[in-house]
Amino acid sequence: MGSGFSLPIIAPSLLSADFSSLGTEVRRVLREGCTWIHLDVMDNHFVPNLTFGPPVIKCLRKVSEKAFFDAHLMVDSPETLVKPCAEAGVQLLTFHYESSPNNAKDLVDLIRQNGMQVGISIRPPTPVGRIEKLLKDIDLVLVMTVEPGFGGQAMIPSCLNKIRTLRRLRERQRSRFLVQVDGGINADTIGLAVAAGAEILVAGSAVFANGDVKTNIANLRAQILKTCGCS
Ligand code: DX5
Ligand code: ZN
Repeated sequence: MGSGFSLPIIAPSLLSADFSSLGTEVRRVLREGCTWIHLDVMDNHFVPNLTFGPPVIKCLRKVSEKAFFDAHLMVDSPETLVKPCAEAGVQLLTFHYESSPNNAKDLVDLIRQNGMQVGISIRPPTPVGRIEKLLKDIDLVLVMTVEPGFGGQAMIPSCLNKIRTLRRLRERQRSRFLVQVDGGINADTIGLAVAAGAEILVAGSAVFANGDVKTNIANLRAQILKTCGCS
């Protein structure tokens, strides 16, 4: 998984960045040592919001060759975006189980065939049991701790139990997927997510709020350090 990373990882989500200068925003977080970038692709159907897609990601790839691009698809029919995402330079492609309950395994295979790592995300009401059979075949599970669609929402703490369940299943199955958490991660909640077993911590508003990316990332790292003695 994205070799050379030491866990846990803070993955800035560009959803809360300044969309008029996304390249600059990516450079700012890279400068602070964040090399994993979370790209939220929304279609205004699966979620009631619209962001960007492969053409924008392709442009961002040019400004940051060494960044690890993780695209979080919040779209209906994600299969139509697999090849365009691969061509745009995405390294890990995550789709929502709820968008593809009947063809999830085919989608996993398609993403793999297109040379990307595979993630599956579950919304707050979706239990881990729905994706249990797929866990052996994927690289990452994204546990949503808010309803997907918007940044700046408060974390739903009960969702953290799913992270604990996933870590137990991983141990039992000897699987290798990483556990990512997304939604309401900030300096007050990041410790809870790390303590529950989350390894990739997506943070949008907590990184880009008030424009002080350097201080924001330092605060998040300090909380991780407090929780697990690592950062
Ligand atoms: C929301 C997106 C998130 C979003 C999180 O559906 O998937 O990645 O950026 O925003 P915060 O960190 O502000 O909750
Ligand atoms: Zn996301």
